[in-house]
Amino acid sequence: MEIKHKIAIIGATSKTAEAMIRLFIAETDWDILLCTASTEYNFPKEVTVLTIDYEYPKQIRELFLEHMPTVIINTAAITNVDACEVDKKKSWNVNVTWAEQLCRTAAILDAHFIHFSSDYVFDGKSGPYTESDVPNPISYYGKSKLASENACKISYAKTTIIRTNVVYGYSSHNKIDFVQWIINMCELNNSFGVVNDQLSNPTLTDDIALGIKKIIEKKRTGLYHFGGLDFINRIDFAKKIAEIYHLDDSLIQPITTESLNQKAKRPLQSGLISLKASTDLGVKFCGIESGLITLRHQMHVFSQYSK
Ligand SMILES: NC(=O)c1ccc[n+]([C@@H]2O[C@H](COP(=O)([O-])OP(=O)(O)OC[C@H]3O[C@@H](n4cnc5c(N)ncnc54)[C@H](OP(=O)(O)O)[C@@H]3O)[C@@H](O)[C@H]2O)c1
Repeated sequence: MEIKHKIAIIGATSKTAEAMIRLFIAETDWDILLCTASTEYNFPKEVTVLTIDYEYPKQIRELFLEHMPTVIINTAAITNVDACEVDKKKSWNVNVTWAEQLCRTAAILDAHFIHFSSDYVFDGKSGPYTESDVPNPISYYGKSKLASENACKISYAKTTIIRTNVVYGYSSHNKIDFVQWIINMCELNNSFGVVNDQLSNPTLTDDIALGIKKIIEKKRTGLYHFGGLDFINRIDFAKKIAEIYHLDDSLIQPITTESLNQKAKRPLQSGLISLKASTDLGVKFCGIESGLITLRHQMHVFSQYSK
């Protein structure tokens, strides 16, 4: 007989966690255990919330020995790539040491550990990438993500690594992703620059959530790339956002990545090929037009609902 899952999600206020929580509550009878360091949140009443402190990765073992999750999903990370370059110690702690501790805890509990990684493990010279391409990170964030993948690979636990890129989706916790940033900038009504030399395939959080549900149901381990249908230049994505949200796209001006002089290097020709996920899991990742229309609808409906 199948046991009823108890799913623990670390980094519960992340955009990705939010989509999973919504999907799991709507479509499964799984118990949901949310781990967050945030003190302000509005999680659904069906879940259990545990407070964690990212300073102390070892606390998770005791906490999970008490609550006994069957699946552990780690979305927590310092995703600000320039901040990772500045505070390497803190980034390593959240992005790597936590993953190591979660692997160890999952092994003890015989739980399935699902960990999020990034296209930033690649150098961006020859994307889009498949799961068999060789990583070569060019930023500290990318290096930390690759180290976290390695922790999963050498772990005794059943582990699944999900690499994704340019994640966008509804956030009731006001996480500013690229879509929200473009909306905010256009609403200021001043022209602004968007890079015209970065290629990726933006990925909707709802598609990621669906893929994770399939991973759990099919008990899949190993490495999967989750990326949207459209491979697109960042400025073209920005212009599409303006179009779907009826904003003035003439405010968006092309600039190069180099001109930004950012602390962390960016992989330019990136993107993730999701053929394995599509064929093995049966997940169809949406393109940007339908993804943005879905998101616009969710922003309208969910913001009404939370009033
Ligand atoms: N966003 C992207 O475009 C992208 C691209 C590729 C891969 N990924 C990976 O996918 C996963 C989920 O990404 P996401 O965009 O959904 O995450 P997100 O919205 O940026 O949230 C990350 C979560 O990590 C936790 N966290 C721990 N320490 C933090 C710190 N110092 N600063 C900020 N947050 C901290 C927070 O959760 P609590 O406060 O609830 O604990 C936060 O909500 C991450 O592992 C990320 O590396 C993301």
